[in-house]
Amino acid sequence: MFETIVLASGNKDKIKELRATLKPLGVTLKSTYDFPELEEVVEDRPTLEGNALKKAEYVHHETGLPTLSDDTGLEVDALNGAPGVYSARYAGESVTYQDNNDKLLDELSEVPTQDRKAQFRTVAAFVTDKGQYAFEGICRGEILKEERGEQGFGYDPVFKPEGYELTFAELGADEKNKISHRGKAIQKFYNWLKKHPS
Ligand code: IMP
Repeated sequence: MFETIVLASGNKDKIKELRATLKPLGVTLKSTYDFPELEEVVEDRPTLEGNALKKAEYVHHETGLPTLSDDTGLEVDALNGAPGVYSARYAGESVTYQDNNDKLLDELSEVPTQDRKAQFRTVAAFVTDKGQYAFEGICRGEILKEERGEQGFGYDPVFKPEGYELTFAELGADEKNKISHRGKAIQKFYNWLKKHPS
């Protein structure tokens, strides 16, 4: 089994979540906090896969340790998959989640309920000495006409997953993780790890 894996992220929620997932396998999870000399990786690739791989390759190269990284985008059908890889800066550089949600609701203001389908997509990339592996997780749903809920982050208040009446921001972290894009990608990674112990 891999003894130590680095998560190429400084996001405390992601670190906590992945640490809990990997615990039963006896894997120690490090993060960018353990390697303060690492530089910020610019996410400038045109795809989620490209960005996830770029971050994992860099951190693996610098630390010599197997590295996991993830990149997520919200892909709205009526916007031909936008904001996608640009989800973090949909309303511009240095914007807030609120700015992005406002812009999204504005862009979709004329779009009727039945055409507001969307999905969150996460690509997790794992880079080791032996190779590079990718794990995808998708959660389908729809964009509501107004925000609902206080929990979560990002586009959670406007996203209602398929088969649910609540938004991600109303569901709460545990419920969200069970069905979310990131949860599914990490579950695939976990299953792969069990079959590939080194
Ligand atoms: P990242 O790749 O995880 O940094 O995500 C990029 C952007 O996608 C974030 O800045 C958020 O705007 C959005 N995002 C990612 N994951 C989620 C989620 O689970 N819920 C809502 N928005 C998300």
